[in-house]
Amino acid sequence: MRKITKAIIPAAGLGTRMLPISHAVPKEMLPIVDLPAIYYLVEEAARSGITDILVITNRDKDAMEDFFDLSPEYISALEAKGKINELSEIKRIADMANVYFLRQKETKGLGHAVGRARSFIGDEPFLVLYGDDIIFSRTPVCRQLMDVYEKFGKPVVGVKPVPVEQLAKYCSLKVEDVPGRDDLFFCTDMIEKPKPGEEFSNLSILGRVLLTPDVFDIIDGLEPGAGGEYQLTDAMRELARGGGAYALEFEGDRFDLGSKTGFLKANIIKGLQHPETSEELRDFLRSLDI
Ligand code: UTP
Repeated sequence: MRKITKAIIPAAGLGTRMLPISHAVPKEMLPIVDLPAIYYLVEEAARSGITDILVITNRDKDAMEDFFDLSPEYISALEAKGKINELSEIKRIADMANVYFLRQKETKGLGHAVGRARSFIGDEPFLVLYGDDIIFSRTPVCRQLMDVYEKFGKPVVGVKPVPVEQLAKYCSLKVEDVPGRDDLFFCTDMIEKPKPGEEFSNLSILGRVLLTPDVFDIIDGLEPGAGGEYQLTDAMRELARGGGAYALEFEGDRFDLGSKTGFLKANIIKGLQHPETSEELRDFLRSLDI
């Protein structure tokens, strides 16, 4: 079985739910305390053993590329001031993985964005980390999916139960139980943004999938789907209907950074954990009369 070393982070969306800020600052660069959202995605992939990451981006998102670079001015200024810890943190981030960038050119949907990565991926299985979704977990979610792939050799999608009334914003999976596992299912079909009555189950894909390279031929043949976009779910549906896929109910808390509440919640969680902010933030939250 091929070792998985590559991942794609589609991050070329317009981020309309985070307007007005997203019109001038890429939402992937909004800070979770002192690190941008894109950091957590690259870190999760790197901790899972991924060495090469392609970020699908657009013309307004160069700040992401700068974040993983080393600025000579900064390096010499930090050296001169003896700020050794800050310096080694910036170097650590730059060395986490080989991070590449490719512009999508036209914002035609998540399926279209993933399709741009075909020549980068070649004929290997690979991970997709949706650029909006950060997940705080004990074991990185990419690693959790890789463990399933290494056992069964089929595509694996990361899922969570979603309240039925919210499924219309997500997708819904048709699944069968896997004997002996209550966190793993076998998926044979799926539907993107189901209308009421079209749902298969309350399980939806949230933020991480591990795909096999045959998905690229399917993506190339896609017709526009829900919302007029080329939907990755429509391509993964063909994988599910063909050889089937596994659906792993992963361990971890997911935050949708494309939404204002998801962004605020992630900041509170990380703020309560950060050594420089935890105590004061805890006291402040306790003091609020809410
Ligand atoms: P979303 O539809 O949730 O993100 O796409 P969006 O389009 O940026 O958000 P809103 O709805 O306008 O607020 C899920 C992921 O797919 C990426 C997005 O950047 C996000 O990480 N995406 C989406 C692309 O890379 N290209 C696209 O054409 C569409």
